[in-house]
Amino acid sequence: MLAAMRTFLILSLAASASSAQDAPALFTKHCAGCHQAGGEIRAPLPSALKLLSKEKILASLETGTMKAQGAALTSAERAALAAHLSGGAGMEPQAQTGACPAAKFSISPGEAGWTGWGVDLANSRFQSAKAAGLDREKAARLKLKWAFGFAGQSIAPAQPVVAGGRLFLGSGDGTVYSLDARTGCQYWTYKAPAMARTAISVESIGQGRYAVYFGDVKANVYALDAQTGALLWQMQADPHPFARITGAPALSGGRLFVPVSSVEEVPAQNVKYACCTFRGSVLALDAKTGKQIWKSYTLPDPSKATRVNPAGAQLSGR
Ligand code: HEC
Repeated sequence: MLAAMRTFLILSLAASASSAQDAPALFTKHCAGCHQAGGEIRAPLPSALKLLSKEKILASLETGTMKAQGAALTSAERAALAAHLSGGAGMEPQAQTGACPAAKFSISPGEAGWTGWGVDLANSRFQSAKAAGLDREKAARLKLKWAFGFAGQSIAPAQPVVAGGRLFLGSGDGTVYSLDARTGCQYWTYKAPAMARTAISVESIGQGRYAVYFGDVKANVYALDAQTGALLWQMQADPHPFARITGAPALSGGRLFVPVSSVEEVPAQNVKYACCTFRGSVLALDAKTGKQIWKSYTLPDPSKATRVNPAGAQLSGR
């Protein structure tokens, strides 16, 4: 009995040691199809993954975007891959930007803002020289005034928005920042649990107060107090595990219109994943409370079970 147990222990140790050595082979087999130049799906290259900490890579494989890919591996293999891909402890946090002196936030009437790529409700994507305070001459003479580093992050995926002299922007780890547009000092941060990359909408909520609205890649929508960063409300726009919000929610007439998409094409590459169940949608929320007024799907009907594939996954479709 004891001898048998000892054999078992030795075997399992040997198994984890061999998977650590095989990390490059695991990467070639399970990851390289997407994570290398010319891959079928555009995914971060090994040089970008190297900037992430071991913990971040492991979390992605166990609970994050790469969960379906991670599920095809043992926990020892996931750990070995994370250690192999990460360049070390992750990027050193940048020095914190200074805190801004207290000041009241407000938007002057008629103020032109940088509201994200769409610019206006017609999604014109055009900023006039007058609104920008910039013409061709000035654009040629721009100089760096300040720079800001995202602590521990390797990408800056969010659209910065300027309103009332402040910059509002999300980031890869879900931290949303309110900075001073002139100096880069920091008024507040709010930490959402997942990447926040939508443009942020800023709107008056009466009595001299303003709210900022955004979505994260776990399909949560948030309203924060623009002055303090305090949470006003939060709601989940879609319960699908791969639902996400990357398009900027738009405000009009007291309603927040929220587009919901997904990354179901990524887990779908795993034959064991029961694909495909996600439906894109648009929601209208009460901007004051976050309560859903309506939700409309771009695919009208839920998907129906079709067949079970050779890997045993129940597929569905329309
Ligand atoms: C089917 C394509 C595909 C495969 C296979 C794949 N990935 Fe990814 N991976 C992606 C895409 C696409 C992204 C970017 C996701 C995004 O933009 O949110 C990504 C992002 C990541 C990230 C960044 C962190 C995150 O959560 O966004 C890590 C780490 C990662 N992958 C690790 C792996 C590892 C390790 C494997 C192999 C076990 C693997 N991936 C296999 C497509 C793939």
